[in-house]
Amino acid sequence: MKNILVTGGAGFIGSNFVKYVLKNYDWNIVNYDKLTYAGNLENLSDVEKNQRYKFVKGDICDEKKVEFTVSENDVDTIVNFAAESHVDRSILGSREFVITNIVGTQVLLDVFKNNNLEKFLQVSTDEVYGSLPENQKELKFTENTPLNTSSPYSASKASADLLCNSYFHTHKLPVLITRCSNNYGPYQFPEKLIPLMLAKALNDENLPVYGDGKNIRDWLFVEDHCSGICTVLEKGKFGEVYNIGGNNEWFNIDIVKLILKLLGKPESLITFVKDRPGHDRRYAIDSSKIQNELGWKPANVFEDGISKTIKWYRENEQWWKKVMSGEYMKYYEQNYAHKIV
Ligand code: NAD
Ligand code: DAU
Repeated sequence: MKNILVTGGAGFIGSNFVKYVLKNYDWNIVNYDKLTYAGNLENLSDVEKNQRYKFVKGDICDEKKVEFTVSENDVDTIVNFAAESHVDRSILGSREFVITNIVGTQVLLDVFKNNNLEKFLQVSTDEVYGSLPENQKELKFTENTPLNTSSPYSASKASADLLCNSYFHTHKLPVLITRCSNNYGPYQFPEKLIPLMLAKALNDENLPVYGDGKNIRDWLFVEDHCSGICTVLEKGKFGEVYNIGGNNEWFNIDIVKLILKLLGKPESLITFVKDRPGHDRRYAIDSSKIQNELGWKPANVFEDGISKTIKWYRENEQWWKKVMSGEYMKYYEQNYAHKIV
């Protein structure tokens, strides 16, 4: 691998991935991103002058532009992060999710096929497996767990996975899929649980917890997701799926209380609001395949990861205050106004 096209590299995980690769590998990166509300070039300001990095503004659904970018930059590998990624937004309206997450992936796969490239890695999610029962702790998602999606977001991601799989089987393309659990860390858009709660707490505003707060998520520090993707890129077997996770399940309410404690803010800021429709109860990843077969393991324990994340949000108020103004306010109003009970 020499030249990687990273799609969605201006978002949360993509921008962390670009920086992780530039620091730890000698690969060249072309970051291809549409710059939706979730894409932010400020995330990459410290690498924009790096000789091995280049940014191209573009939509993954624009086949001509993707094709041109691939040939102009002698791209041999595609890593697809580009997506509409927020479940609540997919409930408010699913069209963009179908277009970007499904059609966009199909476009990338076709360009990949027509140019005989070396590797295609689809960054997928554990949400494609649906929800686990909360009272059977031994049950976790393995790569063989059937797809059983709940939200338009997860349905669109599962569709993209199936398309990737079909190009592997039918066209014999060198395709890899990773499915990771919930990420947290610097540069996460404050519509997702951890950065939203941090921003609300730092502003002394109410923290909206859905339902009874007892939904469970399995949290992984974003850099560990990046190292997992690199491991799969280097050693993964084509046509295979690799789960990535850190064995780190938390009730939402406990995460929220921990954030308040670490910030020295009162629990009275917690506000229980109406539940997310179709809300998956529990996610938990079994990552033994990537650990045993490829030798990957997470490097960050949760206590360190959450401390680094809190420190970053404290020190970068300007970043999150800016992205939480304008358009974001409209979304917040639309998503939360009817939830207040
Ligand atoms: P994000 O919303 O922060 O970033 C998405 C990026 O994709 C943005 O930069 C946006 O501008 C870009 N984008 C959107 N539509 C595009 C299009 N049509 N063409 C080109 N670029 C486009 O998302 P994230 O949280 O960084 O997630 C990245 C990927 O990882 C997604 O595919 C998501 O499904 C997957 N994932 C996320 C998590 C998580 O916890 N956040 C966990 C597992 C997997
Ligand atoms: O599991 C991987 C997935 O994790 C990724 O594929 C998605 O892109 C990513 O958004 C994330 O999905 P979730 O729905 O799990 O993440 P979110 O941060 O939106 O919510 C986490 C939990 O917190 C979930 O149970 C809903 C709850 N929640 C969320 C918000 C935004 C609240 O209680 N209040 C909130 O305001």
